[in-house]
Amino acid sequence: MALDVVIMAAGKGTRMKSSRPKVLHALAGRALLQHVLAAVAGLAARRTVVVTGHGAEQVEAAVQAPGLSFVRQSPQLGTGHAVQQAVPQLGDDGSTLILNGDVPLLEPATAEALVQACGGQRLALLTLQVPDATGYGRIVRGGVSGSEVLGIVEHKDATLEQRLIREINAGVMAAPTALLKRWLSLLKNDNAQGEYYLTDIVALAVADGVPVVAVQPGSEIEVLGVNSPAQLADLERRYQRRQAERLMEAGVRLADPARFDLRGTLECGMDVEIDVNCVFEGRVALGDGVRIGANCVVKNAVISAGAVIHPFTHIDGEQLGVKVGEGALIGPFARLRPGADLGAEVHIGNFVEVKNSTLAKGAKANHLAYLGDATVGERVNYGAGSITANYDGANKHRTVIEADVHVGSNCVLVAPVTLGAGATIGGGSTIAKDAPAGQLTVARAKQVSLSGWQRPKKAR
Ligand code: UD1
Ligand code: CA
Repeated sequence: MALDVVIMAAGKGTRMKSSRPKVLHALAGRALLQHVLAAVAGLAARRTVVVTGHGAEQVEAAVQAPGLSFVRQSPQLGTGHAVQQAVPQLGDDGSTLILNGDVPLLEPATAEALVQACGGQRLALLTLQVPDATGYGRIVRGGVSGSEVLGIVEHKDATLEQRLIREINAGVMAAPTALLKRWLSLLKNDNAQGEYYLTDIVALAVADGVPVVAVQPGSEIEVLGVNSPAQLADLERRYQRRQAERLMEAGVRLADPARFDLRGTLECGMDVEIDVNCVFEGRVALGDGVRIGANCVVKNAVISAGAVIHPFTHIDGEQLGVKVGEGALIGPFARLRPGADLGAEVHIGNFVEVKNSTLAKGAKANHLAYLGDATVGERVNYGAGSITANYDGANKHRTVIEADVHVGSNCVLVAPVTLGAGATIGGGSTIAKDAPAGQLTVARAKQVSLSGWQRPKKAR
């Protein structure tokens, strides 16, 4: 049966007190609306319509995807009014699934269950008993059995007695499209907020004798909406907690699941240990036995088996990615940037930055150094304070450091330049020409000592 999806994302999100449209606020590094789109991606809907309004251009630019269309709602007169704007896009046959753009953690299976419960004939609602229902629409039950759904009353319109109801409307519904269109055309705005409430279609369905079914989600987290910074932070923590639990179930040892953040995907081998306050972003893979010290940020990187990332290391592969070889030791306070490709047993120490460079097995840069656009051979020792001058102000050039080279401290390697295998570069050298293999190359003023020299004295 044909299915259309409508996502309401036009609201201002007043309680966020932000210039950013609410549905673009990030949960685990992804916009709320992106989460909702991901939840319905597998439903094979005929079309997915996002209702935009507040910050429409921003929202539309942020979630462009094939098969997605937008309708604008201006002014924003309520959730019922929002869905009314999408009506011309909806076929009369089949069902429509309606979601709130600010309820991000719905599971695909729950969305599917709602569509099944609707079956093109019934109105299906997602509801749940929650400990604190403040702010949510309440499910009013009664009728002959006492448990039939009769309608939804919004928090602001609810009587004191109705506010005691703990069963809430999660803001997700599936309805037969032809009936939905009819109910939408009948909505009125004579309520506390002067809005056209989508939730009023429930009483209209009951009046039409159309069965209303309530579907429950697998967990509470699926129905939590984001209306304020506090709710966003709460949902973020719950989501992170769930991700942490899944990783721990798979054997990952997290020092503290409450101090763990994953904003993307993390693949882990066996015996991975992650200390407190680490943030993983994008796509990260950690091989067997990898240890990540406290306070590391790791984005778009592959860390091979046995590597140790010491505290306060920042790894950001951006588009190119970062690769850390087996048994490598990185940090503390190291910075690996896009295109850093480190071989096995490489050592990168404190305040060393590596960008777009390959380091072969066993190469070391232990202190205060910069390697950019460099190819570094096996067992190279790159001294403290040495840098590649890879940028001439217009173009970038490569530095090639062949195997077993020893670069002394505080050297400047002016690219393009090649240091031949086994070369030694004296400390403090500025190397602008290739250094031959196996020789000592020094490029600095010769040391002189003046025997008769007197230190100046203060004039009296
Ligand atoms: C809504 C429901 C409430 C439910 C709660 C679940 C209504 C009237 N109330 O309340 O029963 O418990 O969600 O989270 O539906 N929006 C528009 N256009 C508008 C108004 C809102 O697109 O004119 C969008 C918002 O961007 C948001 C969603 O609809 O994504 C919900 O709007 P919001 O104002 O947050 O509704 P709630 O008060 O949370
Ligand atoms: Ca809301």
